[in-house]
Amino acid sequence: MTTRGVEIAPSVLNADFARLGDVCVELEAAGVERIHWDVMDGQFVPNISMGPAVIASCRPKVDLPFEAHLMVHEPDGLIPAFVEAGCDRILVHPEACTHLHRTLGLIRDLGAEPAVALNPATPLEVIEWVLDSVLQVLIMTVNPGFGGQAYLTEMEPKVRRLLDLVESSGRDLDIEVDGGIAPDTIARAALAGANVFVVGSALFRDELGVEHAVKDLRQRAEAALASGTVA
Ligand code: DX5
Ligand code: ZN
Repeated sequence: MTTRGVEIAPSVLNADFARLGDVCVELEAAGVERIHWDVMDGQFVPNISMGPAVIASCRPKVDLPFEAHLMVHEPDGLIPAFVEAGCDRILVHPEACTHLHRTLGLIRDLGAEPAVALNPATPLEVIEWVLDSVLQVLIMTVNPGFGGQAYLTEMEPKVRRLLDLVESSGRDLDIEVDGGIAPDTIARAALAGANVFVVGSALFRDELGVEHAVKDLRQRAEAALASGTVA
């Protein structure tokens, strides 16, 4: 079981793009720990979302850390713009980087926190030799490109194995899951070993509002970790 605290990282991919600044303010008021920006280039994934200018326009609205999930082919050339836009943490996909170790070093040298994100089919072995270069590993629990997809339960053993790998090596990394995280899935993902939960559509479709959604999701994850079972 992870010893790191539960964090809710809202993805604004499914928010109203006409109100993104206000949405960030509402999310900060709702008590989230960070904002997760799902950046898509239409090449690495079959969708296009937002770029550094959009993130930069929201940066002054809140004090929260920003993390950019770059679902972008060969991201090196774009990374400086996301750091400049105010992203504290940059997640790249090994599947999209020819020289992953060098890309992670570029993120660090620019003063941001390096992290990696793995597609469902990508084995953990791909990042075995860069675990000392990252602060976080994201396990995709959907195939990247769109919000509102179904959670892939078959990713849970992968999350568990990642936690074992991290803990047995004495490291202290955030383990994040992204995709299909909702009231009926967050407890299982927490029991598998995740401590950071990217949530998009489940936040914005909660009829009681974002604050209720954040509180409910956090309680479900924390209860599962405390009891060791899914309620
Ligand atoms: C997929 C995206 C989504 C998004 C969250 O590329 O990364 O996983 O963040 O989506 P939902 O709506 O499933 O929480
Ligand atoms: Zn994401």
